[in-house]
Amino acid sequence: MIRKLLALLTLVVFLSSCSPKNPPTTESPSPVLKSTQVPTPTPAPLEPTLTAEVAGVLGRAVNFGNMLEAPAEGDWGLFVKEEYFDLVKEAGFQTIRFPVRFSAYTGSAPDYKLSPAILTRVDWAVENATRRGLNIIIDVHHFDEMVGLTKNPELKVQLLSIWQQLAEHYQDQPASVYFEICNEPNNIPAPAWNEVLRDALSVIRTTNPDRWVVVGGVDWNSFYTLESLELPASDDHLIATFHYYSPFEFTHQGAEWAAGSNDWLGTKWSGTEEEKAAILRDFSVARAWSEKTGIPVFLGEFGAYSKGDMPSRVAWTQFIARTAESMNFSWAYWELAAGFGIYDPVNSSWRTDLLHALIPE
Ligand code: BGC
Repeated sequence: MIRKLLALLTLVVFLSSCSPKNPPTTESPSPVLKSTQVPTPTPAPLEPTLTAEVAGVLGRAVNFGNMLEAPAEGDWGLFVKEEYFDLVKEAGFQTIRFPVRFSAYTGSAPDYKLSPAILTRVDWAVENATRRGLNIIIDVHHFDEMVGLTKNPELKVQLLSIWQQLAEHYQDQPASVYFEICNEPNNIPAPAWNEVLRDALSVIRTTNPDRWVVVGGVDWNSFYTLESLELPASDDHLIATFHYYSPFEFTHQGAEWAAGSNDWLGTKWSGTEEEKAAILRDFSVARAWSEKTGIPVFLGEFGAYSKGDMPSRVAWTQFIARTAESMNFSWAYWELAAGFGIYDPVNSSWRTDLLHALIPE
């Protein structure tokens, strides 16, 4: 029986390890080993238990995806609009995760000076969030070149320069402004990534000694790479993040950027005991790590793409959000108004089933 369970686990982990978000690597410890270390899934109560103390008060958040994460704002069909800040506030979110492709806005080496235009735009977003009492996470997103870090150490210099400028620029902002060092590092060995995090933190701490900073592990911020994070013990303003899109064949069915995903169309998620247990098992790994280290956990991305059927998307989203809360993780849904969107910007209306899956009425 146990053997069968292990074999099943191995298969599930292997399948998810083949996703573009989670490609098999040789450098990090085997995800199979990590998952099988977790003995029995801990059943999680499904009542929301999120408290203000959790994770530096990030609470419930939504990603402003497809806006400034695109090569240029508007390229992926969405501009940041002032009304979005009102909408998310009124809906009951506490935080906006704000992904920005800063690396597309730097000048040449050695200064990598950020364009004044991008800083002005982010200033505007920070101001709009702050004025409404929303937290905002400034997230260095889509620094896709980072996959070449091992061969090109100059990429670290560019990231540190971005952070030196952002940290200086936002140092006087209130504590409700958070920093996230780099979204979804992948194809980077954990020790090299730990070095990047250590150096970026030391740059940030020069001007922002007490600001909450979000950090995540390699393999696209997977839950099982939290274990490989080596963070400065003296830093007590860190939040660890992981992203969760499992089962990938369900959440990314028909996603244009995920190879072979048309074959997954029609995949459902009905919340069977087995489906729930898989999620509980994965989340328990993150919770155990958080308990061991004392570092709060933020589930910074999860979502199911619009090509899946709505009842499945709602059931999965609700189960993830409530399970995260029961484990005292703050969370951010991916994303507001594009392909995973809880808001329909064409008809100016919420997709209420999805919204209420996140924020119960
Ligand atoms: C990427 C998005 C993508 C999403 C889901 C994010 O981290 O930046 O472009 O849509 O993950 O795959």
